[in-house]
Amino acid sequence: MYQDHFSLSASSPASAAPPNMPAPLRVGLLGLGTVGGGTLAVLLRNADLIAARAGRRIEVRMVAVRNLERARSVLGAHAASLHLTDDAQVLVHSPEVDVVVDVMGGTTLARTLVLQAIAAGKHVVTANKALLAEHGSEIFAAAQARGVVVAYEGAVAVSIPIIKTLREGLTANRIEWVAGIINGTSNFILSAMRERGLGFAAALTEAQALGYAEADPAFDVQGTDAAHKLSLLAANAFGTLPQYAEVQAEGIEDLQAADVDFAARLGYCVKLLGIAKRRGQGLELRVHPTLLPAGHLLAQVHGSMNAVMVQSDAAGTTLFYGAGAGAEQTGSAVIADLVDLARSASLLPHQRVPALGFARGVQAGLPVVGADEVESAFYVRLDLSRPELAAPRVLQQLAADGVRVERMAQYPHPADPELQCLVLLTAPVRLRTLRPALQTVEGWPEVMGFASLLRLGF
Ligand code: HSE
Repeated sequence: MYQDHFSLSASSPASAAPPNMPAPLRVGLLGLGTVGGGTLAVLLRNADLIAARAGRRIEVRMVAVRNLERARSVLGAHAASLHLTDDAQVLVHSPEVDVVVDVMGGTTLARTLVLQAIAAGKHVVTANKALLAEHGSEIFAAAQARGVVVAYEGAVAVSIPIIKTLREGLTANRIEWVAGIINGTSNFILSAMRERGLGFAAALTEAQALGYAEADPAFDVQGTDAAHKLSLLAANAFGTLPQYAEVQAEGIEDLQAADVDFAARLGYCVKLLGIAKRRGQGLELRVHPTLLPAGHLLAQVHGSMNAVMVQSDAAGTTLFYGAGAGAEQTGSAVIADLVDLARSASLLPHQRVPALGFARGVQAGLPVVGADEVESAFYVRLDLSRPELAAPRVLQQLAADGVRVERMAQYPHPADPELQCLVLLTAPVRLRTLRPALQTVEGWPEVMGFASLLRLGF
C-alpha cells in the first residue's frame, strides 16, 4: 500500500540556518493521509537539501486533520514540533502559516477551505485535481484578485513535472496536442488484463489493494479522474481555463477482455488516453480506450505508470514518463511547488509564473468538437452466427455507407462456440458516418448484436 511508503525521519539533522538565510516558508498541511504523510516525510528527510535549493527552509508549522489520534501516531516525535489541530479554520486563518497545502481530497470542504485561505492572503499548493478541474475558474480568479499563488504540480501525473513543462519548458511553442496515460489505475488494469489475462474485476481489486485507485474507483474506471487531469493539461497547453465539463470521457469499465486479446493478436495495445488536440479554432478534449500499435512509445507504459506526449511546433514530439501516484511521488511534486513559492513569494504577482502559463489572453474556453465529429480509425467487433454469409454483406454495407475497412480478422467467440467474432479496422472516419452504418448491420438476423467499438490511434 502507498500508505506504507513514507516514514517520518529527519535523516539529515536540521542544521542551524546560515545567518543570512531568509525567514522560512511556513506551511500548513490540510490533511495527513497518504499524500500529506508523503509530503511531510520528504520535507523532513531532505530538509537541508531543499533549503539549499530554495534559499530558505520550508517548515510545516501546522497540520489540520479529522482524526487527531491517528495523526499523532503518524507524526510520532514530530507531533511536538508543530501545531496539530482538528479545526481547519484555525489553520487557514493562522498568522503562523504562509502557504496552505491542500492534500485532503474531495471538492466541497476543500473548495471552501482553499477559497478561505486565498481570502486570508495565503498561497495555496494543492494536489487536488478534481477541485481544480471543477472549480478552477473560481479558484484561479480569487487567487489572482488577492495576488496569491495557486500551484498544483501534484494534481497531474505526480512524478512527471508536466505542468512546469507545459508552462515553462515548452513556453516558446504552439502546442498542437497533448496525449497521455494519466490514470494509473486504468493502465494497471489494462496491463494486467493483457499481460496476465486477469479479468477486469480482479485487476481493479489488485489496483485498489496497491493504493492506486481513488476512494471511489468509479472515478478511475469511468474516465473521470483522467478527464480532471486532462482539463488541467489542456488549459496550460492552449491558454484556457479548465474545461472539465466539456471533456468527453469514456472509461475502461465496459471494455471486454476479448477485445484486449483480439487487439493484441492484431498487433495493438489498448490504453486509456486523455487527448487534447487543436481542431480548427476549437479543441478535441476526450478520454477513451484507444488502440495503439504495440510498438508505439505510449504502448510501452505498463502497470500504474503514467506518460504524457506533447506535440509542439518548435520542440517537436516530446515524451514524459513517471509514476502517476504514490505518497512520496506526490510529495515530490507538492514540494517542487513549495520551492517555487519559497523563491518567488516576495515577487510582485505579475513577476511570477502565471498559474495557467499565460500572463495575458487566457480564454474561458475554446469550442470543443463533439465525439461524432472527431475523425479516427476504429476497431469494430461484430459477433456473427453465419460468418460466411454475413461477413461479405457487412463489408458491402459499410462500403456503401462510406466506411472503408482496411483490415479484418475472425476469431472464435470466447464464450459461445456457435459464434464467430468479426473484427474490422477501419480507415479514419467520423463516428457520425460509422454509427448509422453499424446500426444497419446490427439489425440483421445473422449479426448477434453489435459488440464493440474502440478508437484506433489519435
Ligand atoms: N487514482 C489516480 C490514478 C491516483 O490511478 O492515477 C493518482 O492521481
